[in-house]
Formats: sequence, structure tokens, C-alpha cells
Amino acid sequence: MDDISPAKIDAVRAGLLAWWHANRRDLPWRHTRDPYRIMVSEIMLQQTQVDRVITYYHRWFEVFPGVQDLAVAPTAEVIRLWAGLGYNRRAVNMQRTAQAVVERGGEYPATIQELLKLPGIGPYTAGAIACFAFEQDVPFIDTNMRRVLHRLFIGVDVPTPVATDKQITALAAEVLPPDNGWNWNQGLIEFGALQCTARKPLCIVCPLQSECNAYPEIQTAIAGNTKVARSPKQVPFEQTNRYFRGRIVDALRLHEAGGIPLSDLGPLLRPGFGESDVPWLLEIIQGLERDGLAAIAEEEASYDVSQTRVRLP
Ligand code: ADE
Repeated sequence: MDDISPAKIDAVRAGLLAWWHANRRDLPWRHTRDPYRIMVSEIMLQQTQVDRVITYYHRWFEVFPGVQDLAVAPTAEVIRLWAGLGYNRRAVNMQRTAQAVVERGGEYPATIQELLKLPGIGPYTAGAIACFAFEQDVPFIDTNMRRVLHRLFIGVDVPTPVATDKQITALAAEVLPPDNGWNWNQGLIEFGALQCTARKPLCIVCPLQSECNAYPEIQTAIAGNTKVARSPKQVPFEQTNRYFRGRIVDALRLHEAGGIPLSDLGPLLRPGFGESDVPWLLEIIQGLERDGLAAIAEEEASYDVSQTRVRLP
């Protein structure tokens, strides 16, 4: 990649931070520096819109006010509270993180390096906790941040980015303003969410237009790309494993500790469910079991596989 001039870096920093201070939303996780709260909010935000997360965020801390409360809770309760957020595995992983934090005395480590050693914490979450809880000036990237940096400093990212994640991470480090990492990283996220969106970037009212390497071509690139975006071969979500995994966990949430036999579970998922569908169902349940989201109730082992009971762990 070409060198970026210090003047451009200065201009983008000033423009983006000014935009941030004028447009930032007042969101609950921006009022705290508690690493547990930051962890929960960032993991919820990885898959769900901000408006919906706000409700879940408040409810979560009524039930699990501290990291210790999450660590010792029955996993079934954690999964129940996560209902509607999708990717149930994240809730289970987050409980494992909480348990590891409690094992080390209940304090989160403050550096990315140490945070990464916790189970369930990847580079994005480690960076977000280091920066948003401990106010460290560290770079990290999610989809929004990657898109914004790519467009500003590299160029058009549609239909595919030309820079690798490694290059963008290096770029994020290069342009991070010293002593202002918290505002900068929140600002990048906010700018990607409100201004420089994937499909409808508001280029005509963008304060960084004159600094942007993707402007104006990005507009025609997006217009040309929407026509091919959805290939007819794409499998409808309702036929995917992920859809059925979610439906199964939803069904298990409604059953008591004794669980539900496969012969009752199957028809809830697929009308016309029969014997021949049992292996299909078992395969999905095994995947859920591996991920700590379901368990086979062993006390009632039966030769009739369809009578096998499944429950939350
Ligand atoms: N998405 C991911 N992290 C976020 C944050 N801190 N604020 C708003 N949206 C986000």
C-alpha cells in the first residue's frame, strides 16, 4: 500500500472526530468503563441492531449484575436470557469467559494480549474491552470500521475489498490518534453505522468526501453490485442448519429440565417429520451438544432413538 501523508491522516482524524462529537448517539454502554458491561454489550452488538440491544442490555444486568453472577448461573438460564439475540453459542462462550475471569480473582486483564488468553475472546472483543473499558489507545476492527478505513484510505470496497484484514489492521494502528483512542474507535463504529454504511453511504453530506479514496466511484460500484448481490442458488435461511439450531434451542427453552423426546421435537420443526428424519435431527443436536447448547437426557436411555430426550444443558 502507498504511504499515507501525515496531512491526510490529520485531516481525517479532525473530520471524523468532529463528526463524532456532533452525531454520537447516547447509548448506555458509552456511559460505563466496566469491562464486564463492555464485554456483554460488544458481544450482543456483534449480531444485533443497536436499538434491540439496548433492551437486552438493561435486562441482562438485572439478572446478572456482575461477572460472578454470570459465571455461576445455570447455563440454561443464560441461554434463555439470550433468546432472540441469535447465535446462542456466543452466550455459552461468554459464560466461559466470565468463569475464567472469576478464576483469576474477578478482575479483567487490561491488555489485549492478556484478554486474548481468556476463552471466548477474539481480537475484536479484546480490542474493544482494552479500549472502551480501560481507555487504551489500541487499534481493532469490525466490519464497520474495516469498511470506513478501506474507503477513506484505500478505495472502493465493492464488490470486494482490495486490502486484506492484516493490511487494514496495520492501517487502523497507523491512523489511530494518540491519547484519543476511545473517541476515535467509537467514532469509526458510529460513522460506519450512520454515515458510511455498506449499501447507502451518505456521500453527498459527508464531511470527509474530499479526503475519501472511494469517492465518488463508490456510488456507481454499489449501484452496479446490487443487481448481482443475491444469486438464485442461495439456500433460503429456513433451510439452513443455523435456522434449525435456533428453532431447537427455542423449543428447549420452553421445556423443563426433563427435556423433550425427539419424536415430539421433530414435528415442531418440520411438518411431516418422520422416522427417517431422526438421523438429520440427531446430527443437528450433536452439533448443539458440542457447543454446550443442548444435552441428551441420559437417565432415560432407550432403544427407540426417537424417544431420546433432549434438554438445555
Ligand atoms: N457496534 C459494535 N460496537 C458498538 C458500539 N460500541 N457502539 C455502537 N455500535 C457498536
